[in-house]
Parts: sequence; structure tokens; C-alpha cells
Amino acid sequence: MEQQKRYGHFDDQHREYVITDPQTPWPWINYLGNEDFFSLISNTAGGYSFYKDAKFRRITRYRYNNVPMDNGGRYFYIKDGDTVWNPGWKPCKTPLDFYECRHGMSYTRITGRKNGVEASVLFFVPLKKWCEVQKLTLTNNSSDTKQLKLFSFEEWCLWNAATDMENFQRNFSTGEVEIEGSTIYHKTEYRERRNHYAFYHVNTEIQGFDTDRETFVGLYNEFADPQAVMEGKPRNSHAHGWSPIASHYIEVTLQPGESKDFVFLLGYIENEQDEKFEAPQVINKKKAHALIAELDTTEKVDKAFAELCEYWDALLNIYKVHTGNDKIDRMVNIWNQYQCMVTFNFSRSASFFESGVGRGMGFRDSNQDLVGFVHQIPPRARQRIIDIASTQFPDGGCYHQYQPLTKRGNNDIGGGFNDDPCWLIFGTVAYIKETGDFSILDEMVPFDNQPGSEVTLFEHLKISMDHVIKNLGPHMLPLIGRADWNDCLNLNCFSWDPNESFQTTENVSEGTKAESLMIAGLFVVTGKDYVALCKKIGKADEAARMQQAVDEMIEAVKKHGWDGEWYLRAYDFYGRKIGSNECEEAKIFIESQGWCTMAEIGAEDGMVAKSLDSCKKYLECEHGMVLNNPAFTKYIYEYGEISSYPEGYKENAGIFCHNNPWVIIGECIAGRGNDAWSHYAKILPSYVEEKYQTLHKVEPYVNCQMVAGKDAARPGEGKNSWLTGTAAWMWLTVSQYILGVKPQYDGLQIDPCLPDTANDYTVVRQFREAEYTITVHPNGHQKGVKQIVLDGSAIDGTIIPYTPGNHTVEVTM
Ligand code: BGC
Ligand code: NOJ
Repeated sequence: MEQQKRYGHFDDQHREYVITDPQTPWPWINYLGNEDFFSLISNTAGGYSFYKDAKFRRITRYRYNNVPMDNGGRYFYIKDGDTVWNPGWKPCKTPLDFYECRHGMSYTRITGRKNGVEASVLFFVPLKKWCEVQKLTLTNNSSDTKQLKLFSFEEWCLWNAATDMENFQRNFSTGEVEIEGSTIYHKTEYRERRNHYAFYHVNTEIQGFDTDRETFVGLYNEFADPQAVMEGKPRNSHAHGWSPIASHYIEVTLQPGESKDFVFLLGYIENEQDEKFEAPQVINKKKAHALIAELDTTEKVDKAFAELCEYWDALLNIYKVHTGNDKIDRMVNIWNQYQCMVTFNFSRSASFFESGVGRGMGFRDSNQDLVGFVHQIPPRARQRIIDIASTQFPDGGCYHQYQPLTKRGNNDIGGGFNDDPCWLIFGTVAYIKETGDFSILDEMVPFDNQPGSEVTLFEHLKISMDHVIKNLGPHMLPLIGRADWNDCLNLNCFSWDPNESFQTTENVSEGTKAESLMIAGLFVVTGKDYVALCKKIGKADEAARMQQAVDEMIEAVKKHGWDGEWYLRAYDFYGRKIGSNECEEAKIFIESQGWCTMAEIGAEDGMVAKSLDSCKKYLECEHGMVLNNPAFTKYIYEYGEISSYPEGYKENAGIFCHNNPWVIIGECIAGRGNDAWSHYAKILPSYVEEKYQTLHKVEPYVNCQMVAGKDAARPGEGKNSWLTGTAAWMWLTVSQYILGVKPQYDGLQIDPCLPDTANDYTVVRQFREAEYTITVHPNGHQKGVKQIVLDGSAIDGTIIPYTPGNHTVEVTM
């Protein structure tokens, strides 16, 4: 194998990934902020900030798909004599004597050294505050006195990130700022309907500033050589229209050995309608002053940072494993959980692959993200479930996406994805099992956010199940609608017009026979959960009604969904098989194998084992399991977007990491620990990090949505990092199925599924008001718990009944 260059390494003790070369194969980013105020930051300090919604409330500007890549961000320029450099190497790209970027839990620290000066910047968003802190520490390690000229830089976005990119005839005349002392205020559109503004502050006196981009940069210069910086002279420009920015100019003298801190704050403020102005045209700065006062010294900032670290300590103490294998431990204890928080916060909205303007919160996406997050902060998960359910329609269908700022369903994309409703059961059940909080089922939740339309959340779950039952096709299998989980399997679309969106175009659907085996499996899995829930809350009749529907679905799959060696994927509009040995291409698909094996459909007839074997035989490759095989080589009009992708990418035979865990869980349920493990390790970032940093390209500390499959030009190359359902599914897989600690209504179930080489390991699990220290002795077994000893006494079965307090559990397999 070609020796892969390395760009960084894990530092588990500090829970950081340390990047030691700024020229990573793609920007390697991190997320700042936990609620409301968020930032994306790359390893060279590129990226942007927003409040709640990356589309509607963008604070700073970003240019996607730029040349060079990742241009624009929060930049510090240091002019030391004739040398101008940045701590994060970009944008000047002056070679540094030392560079390091440490991405940690909601913070990033970038350090550069040049000619005896060290500049280290700590970036984070303090808990419950609407601002990004940038604490810059300048140190003179040389034996000479240093006279430095320091310029900060931020570029304002004109709030709506979509119109900011396109409506220049208006935008170039709307920009407005105010300057007060060391604070630059951005108040574009504040004069009219907006009640919010942003500011950029530094806690020291400044010797100059700039707020007009062209004056600061120069029309024919770049971020790499802004005129003001190159000449060492700020212009004190005041932006009127055009492109407002914020840049402070500070003259810094450092004696040998001396070090100075500067606290920069990028803040966001909302005012009441009747308190917007303190004088005509002058914004009310009271709240900004108050926020600044909370963070105007190094001590205050350090305290806020310590609080953030404690917050993460507490979150990551909820589920901890010690296996002795640092590749597992670091993913389980740090990075997988961290990525779950990030996907919970952003759904699929804002990353370096999601522009922030296209997609808000996905109905199915957010429900899945919940299972990776619910143990972390249950009250936020609870609110999320209510928000999601509020975008459902009375017939059980739902908006496919909603905007985080307004929480309203997104009309551009609409509904009609027939898997969506089932996911509400998936998310809600996970929440109740974690918390024991059945009261959520009695919450009154509207349809399509319409006041007066409220019914209980339980009713929403019921109509979700019914939506599937009421939309069955000729084989009594679920009709697919616009698509199921696979957004690109558009079986009612029939498009020859490249200007049509595959997702929203449905050219024919009357009389469709397009059915989905993926929804069938999903319905059986979530249906069983629904039945158990109904029994639990004393709704025996409803349980019986749905059990029958589940049984019928199982029969329909066995009769019409089995292809001999694997489960079919779907029937097309005309009722022809998709994902069958009879097909010319794409004979087998992963999604139905995952869901039907998790549902254990036909296990007694050997279907599950055969399906799992077929996944190994036809889908598995060096980097994971591909989505379908063989890949489509030509566009199939009847199938929609799926075959629009070249071979090996995305939904056409890419390794769509999200669905690998479905098969892995299927393996675990079937008790095949060796197979489960080998599939899991292939897409586990820590293993990929060790071998393939260059090939993989994207961040090695998190999962990406897609890795190029075996039919692609560069198998193993990753794309769409961070915002993917893979995070939650990897978490579910390892925490509940491999390590085997699974919340149930009445307690914790312990039922691991391991490779036969597994050593003893310990999980410390906080669960409701209890903490369990669980030690598992696998003794070479892949599956099957022989005995559980709870606090010294053996118990029956695999469920530890929940009681508050501290407990020790010994598990022998
Ligand atoms: C992508 C999908 C995505 C969909 C909706 C498609 O082009 O392949 O992964 O979910 O667009 O935005
Ligand atoms: C990405 C979407 O966010 C997700 O909802 C979908 O299931 C996958 N793409 C597969 O198409």
C-alpha cells in the first residue's frame, strides 16, 4: 500500500485532534457553539458564524467552492517588520516556523510561530452566550523588543445568506455600520424590519479600524494581501453600502519574554421592537455593552472556557467505555458522541458540503440524530421531538424539512417521502426508553404548526403508523412516494428535464405500483416498538391492531420481497422488481438488507443469514459496504436520481456510511459478532485515520456521509463529512449492539455482540438517576449472556431493573 502522508494525530487526554500541517487534503473543520449561536471553523480559521439558522441569520460571510478553497474567515494579520503572517497560515500563507491546530470539544486553538513571535488563538462560544470569543495571546520568544502591527478581520454577511449571494443590485446599497470605541457594529437592515445586529469588539484601545472591504483590501487585492495591512496603515473607513467588514488595528509592543492577551468578541444582539434605537439612527447598544462586560478580561474568558470544558466533561461522563483499545475508546468516549451533538444541532444544514442555505432540519434526519443525542441532554431531545411532530400533516404525512429559526415546514421541498412518518416513532421511543418520561406522549402537538389543531403526541405516532398502512401497493408493501430513505430512488418521477428536481418532481403517481422494501422493514422494526409501547401504556387494543399490521407486513415481505439470496429493494411504477438477480444492474441494495435483517423477517427460514452473507459477498469492499451492486452505468428514466450519479458515488454504489450500521446491527441481532465487528471497523474513523489520511481526504475524526465505493475512480475517498445520520447510527451500533448496553422502559438491557477476540471491558453508564459500572467477560463468545450479577446477586434475564443509585454489574457470556 502507498505510504499515506499524515497531517495530524489524536490527543485523547485533551480530547483533541491535533493538526500539524495546515495544508490538509481538504479543510478539516470544527463546530463552535452548543445552542443558538454557532460557528464553523477550519484548521486555518476559515468559516463563518450564524444565529440559529445558517440561511436566515448568517452573521459572517462565506464563499463556498472558492478558489483557493476555504477563503474567508476570522483572520488575524501580524505585521512584524516587512513580514506579514497569520497564526493559522492562511490567508497570507507565509511559511511558519511552527503551526498547530487543536480541534477540541466545541473549541479550536490555532497556534503559529514566526520570527520569535508566537500567536495562539483560542476560539469558542461560551455556554448560553450569543458570541464567539477569540482569545489571542501574543508572546515574544525572541531576545529583541517587538513592535507589531495587529489587524483583525471579519466580513459581515447581510443576514439572509441566500440573498447575500445573489441580490447585489440591492445589497450594495444597504450595508450600514456604527463604530464606538473598540467596537464595530453591523446594523444592515436594522432601520427597517430587523431587530438584531452584530458587533466585533476587542478589549483594548485600538489605533485604527476599517469597516469598508474595498478600502481595507483594495479592489484588486485579496485576503492574502490587504492593502491596509501590507502598508501597515488602517484607513479608518466607514462603510456605506458595498461590503461592510470589521477590522481592528492595534499596535503592540512586546519586550523579550513578554506575553499579552487580547479578547476579541463577535457578538449578536436582539432588541425589543420599541427599544431598538437610543437616538435617531443610533442603535441601542445596552445589551452589547452588557455582553462585552461579561467577557472583557482574560480571567472572565478563562472562566467561561472552563465552564465549557466542564459541560463537556459532564456530557461525556454519561457513557464511557474502557476496552484497552484506544481506537474504540476514543471514538466511543469522545468523537462519536461529539459528532452526534453536532448532527443534532445542525441536522443537515451547515457544513463545508452543506451550504446552509439549502436544507434546514430534516424530518427523518432529526429523528435519527436523536438516538445519538438523547442520553446527552434529554430535555433538548424532548423539545426537538415536539418541534418535529409539529410539522406533520393530519394524514400522517409530513414536511420533509423545516427551518430551525421559524420551526415551520419548508414548502419548497414539501412532503411525500413515505418513510418519514415511521421515524417519529423511532425517535420518540428512544427518548422514552432513555428517560422513562411517558408524559411526552400526552403533550399537545399541532399539525403543520396550526394553532387549534393540537392532538396528543401519541396520536401523531398512531397516524404515522396508519400512514404506512393506508398507503400500501399491490403486494401489500408500502408505497414509496417521492422516495424513501434513499432520496434518489424516485420511482414516480420520470424526468428528462435537467431543470427539474428529482426530489420534488412527481410526473406520474396515479396508479403507481412503486413499493419499498426498505419502508417495509422500517415499518416492522418501528411497528414492534409501537406495539410494545402501546402495551406498556395500557392500550391493548391498539397494540393488537398494530401487531396484526406488522404480522401482515412480515408475510408480505416473505412472499413478495425475497429474491432467493437477499431481500428485493423495491417494485417500480409498473410493478417490476428492483434489486433482484433478474435485474441487469443493481441486483442487490443495502437498505432492505439492513432493515429486513434488523426486523428479523424470515429468520426462521434462513433469510436473515442469507441476506447478511450476500452483503458480505456483493457489497463489502476494503472501505465498507457499497449501497448497491453492480453500480448503474446508465441513466434509468424510471428510477430517478439514483442512476444519475457516476459509478461508485453517493447513492449509486457509494459507501453511504449511514446504512452500513443497519447491516451491522442486523449482524448483531443475528449474533454474528465477528462479521459485525469487521464491518464496523472498516468505517470507524480511528481505523481509517491510521491508514488513509491522504486518500480519505476529509476530517479523520468524524464519519462522513459517503466514501467512494469500489467502482469509483478513487475508492476510499471521503466526502460530505460531519452532517450525516452515520453519527447516530454508529453510536447506536457500538453503544447498544456491540458493547450491548441498551436502554429499555424498565431498565438497562445488557446483550453484547462481540468478535471472539474481544477482551474484558467496562462500561460506566449514567442512566436516569443511576450509574452502572458494567464489566463484561466475553470469554471468547460472540453473543449470549450466561449470567448477570447486579450488586453481588445474580438476576434473571438480561435486563437490569432500574433503581436509582450506584450499581456494579458483572456480565459473563
Ligand atoms: C443526494 C442525497 C440528498 C438529496 C436531497 C441528492 O442529490 O444524493 O444524498 O439527500 O439530494 O438533497
Ligand atoms: C441524505 C439525507 O439527508 C438523508 O435524509 C437521506 O436519507 C440520505 N441522503 C440518502 O439519500
